[in-house]
Amino acid sequence: MPTKALWGDGRLCYGGDWNPEQWPPGVWREDVALMRAAGVNLVTVGVFAWSRLEPEPGRYTLGWLDRVLDLLHAGGIRAALATPTASPPPWFSLRHPDALPVTADGVRLTHGSRDTYCAAAPAYRDAARNITEVLAARYAHHPALALWHAHNEYGTTCHCPHAEAAFRRWLTTRHGDLDALNDAWATSFWSQHYSDWAQVGAPRATQYLANPGQLLDFRRFWSDTLLSAYTEQRDLLRAANPQVPITTNYVLGDWVPVDHARWAREVDLVAVDHYPSATGRGAEEQTAFAADLARGWARHGAGKPAPWLLMESAPNQLHTAGRMHTKEPGRMTRHSLAHVARGSAGVMFFQWRAPAGGAERFHSAVVSHAGADTRVFREATALGAALGRLTGTAPGRVEATVAIGYDAASDWALRHPGMPRAGLDHCGEAAAAHRALWHAGVTADVVPPGTPLDGCRLLVLPALYLASDATVDWVRRHVDAGGHLLVTWLSGVADEHARVRLGGYPGAYRDLLGVRVEEFHPLADGERVPLTGGGTGRIWSETVHPAGAETVSAYAGGVLDGRPAITRHRVGDAYAWYVSTRPDDDTYRRLLTEAARLAGAVPTCPGAPPGVEAVRRHDGDGSLLYLLNHTDEPQRVPAAGVEMLTGEAVGSALTVAPGGVAVVREEPS
Ligand code: GLA
Ligand code: GLA
Repeated sequence: MPTKALWGDGRLCYGGDWNPEQWPPGVWREDVALMRAAGVNLVTVGVFAWSRLEPEPGRYTLGWLDRVLDLLHAGGIRAALATPTASPPPWFSLRHPDALPVTADGVRLTHGSRDTYCAAAPAYRDAARNITEVLAARYAHHPALALWHAHNEYGTTCHCPHAEAAFRRWLTTRHGDLDALNDAWATSFWSQHYSDWAQVGAPRATQYLANPGQLLDFRRFWSDTLLSAYTEQRDLLRAANPQVPITTNYVLGDWVPVDHARWAREVDLVAVDHYPSATGRGAEEQTAFAADLARGWARHGAGKPAPWLLMESAPNQLHTAGRMHTKEPGRMTRHSLAHVARGSAGVMFFQWRAPAGGAERFHSAVVSHAGADTRVFREATALGAALGRLTGTAPGRVEATVAIGYDAASDWALRHPGMPRAGLDHCGEAAAAHRALWHAGVTADVVPPGTPLDGCRLLVLPALYLASDATVDWVRRHVDAGGHLLVTWLSGVADEHARVRLGGYPGAYRDLLGVRVEEFHPLADGERVPLTGGGTGRIWSETVHPAGAETVSAYAGGVLDGRPAITRHRVGDAYAWYVSTRPDDDTYRRLLTEAARLAGAVPTCPGAPPGVEAVRRHDGDGSLLYLLNHTDEPQRVPAAGVEMLTGEAVGSALTVAPGGVAVVREEPS
């Protein structure tokens, strides 16, 4: 694997996006000196520098980048050199108006922000390949180059004629012929039957509900189209020097049309950007979930546990509901080390230095508008030192015995119009299951269907709506091997084309679960239905008929009074649970704790007090126990070994400071 080049020296990656094109050379020298002081060893360069690299078509001004890379090399700092293709220069848009993207409403966007191009437009692809080749030819053997960072956050879609033509070509590959497409999209409904490929279009704005199969395929088409834009850059970069690893930074969010699991096989290193949207404890919950998602993609891509990289995170801010919240002291370090604990090969920030102008002038930065004599810079420097003490601990394997199934296409399909309830959200349901386990102290993998599940005792499928035959087979193999299963409402209801599997829900898993669901009773926003045994259900409820399963908890009141809400089916020595509503957080935590316990999946550090996150990461030398104290009180945690950040020996327990972090190199037991 070329990724060896990244941590061959045993150091974790540390740094962030650096934009020297925004500053005069005097600032570059100051920046490199500050980076060295902060312990930075890797910076992303050139992400949005296209107009400074190619100010006119075919005229290249690379001298400044030569000097920047030489300066980094002299300072002992490595570069993640980006291809700048996420933001074409103004001349490009003026020259190629047909490469500007068209929205579903038919509006052609104009130049003025970033990501304003259509990746199916030949002119865009030609220009992107060209600037990639220019950079590859010049820098593939530069001694500062450690990693290629292709593009930025692939995720832009378009409905223009180029996209439509490419969609049709993609559909012929996917479906073979029109009969298969008509069947997959159920086009007998509403007289949508196609008799010629020319009739098949992109899902532009239409009168009423759009065809769900068409919407889903359009997302898949865009994922594959953007992936081909990535792989063509990757192949050019690789040809120039096969020793340098290549990645692209994944963006998370429900708008993203990219199936990162498919992409994971094409990158040398899975890299993600993460910005929590919650400001309270939710920020820590989201951080853990995002990190586990990234680890799942890495594992999926490699077919075995593999490291990944936090490519962007905010050094000093959280953003929610249109407002910036400054992170409290210590919080940035905890978030950063939570990613490392969960398998990241380092910590990267957006951004190194805050610009005075431009759209993101108030985004977070290590060197803020106030300069480097600041709390955030001091904390970043302390984190750099802490990461230095963890040298030699990456890459490794994170200990987890529960896996949560996550699938981008299920998320897309649940958001389609015409579902039984608005606001259905597979990613949110996966996060809810993860949160419940996080509070129970149980470390979970979050994995796309098909990922090897060795070591997994309990597989959780949270509203995993789509079930291809391959997915069903993956679940069955887990159960056949003695694994426990917990399936929640709306999982396995539809096939890979989003057509309902008939005969009672959830068609894909009825027999495994020993239930048959007859009717849905979605709940209103804010509505709760009481459950026997305590707790409530939210969002959803349904008429469940046991067919072999026992009732664990029933609905108490309403039309479903006395009917099963949560069931359990004995399959061999294991249990297959069915959860027909979304339990409130506390009830979900208790339920998953019990399901995990019966499966033999125990908390990572059973003695850790509430509010202390514990993750165990194995490396060649044994295991490291990461302890993150998210509370305002000192917390006593059982552990034995050597605390790596202080070097102190730990006999049987240690005290983790309020808001602090400890990393214990554990004694082999
Ligand atoms: C209307 C239409 C039907 C169907 C129903 C659904 O009555 O005529 O085709 O869409 O609404 O409620
Ligand atoms: C993304 C982008 C960055 C920047 C940050 C701001 O992750 O990749 O360029 O816009 O968000 O949060």
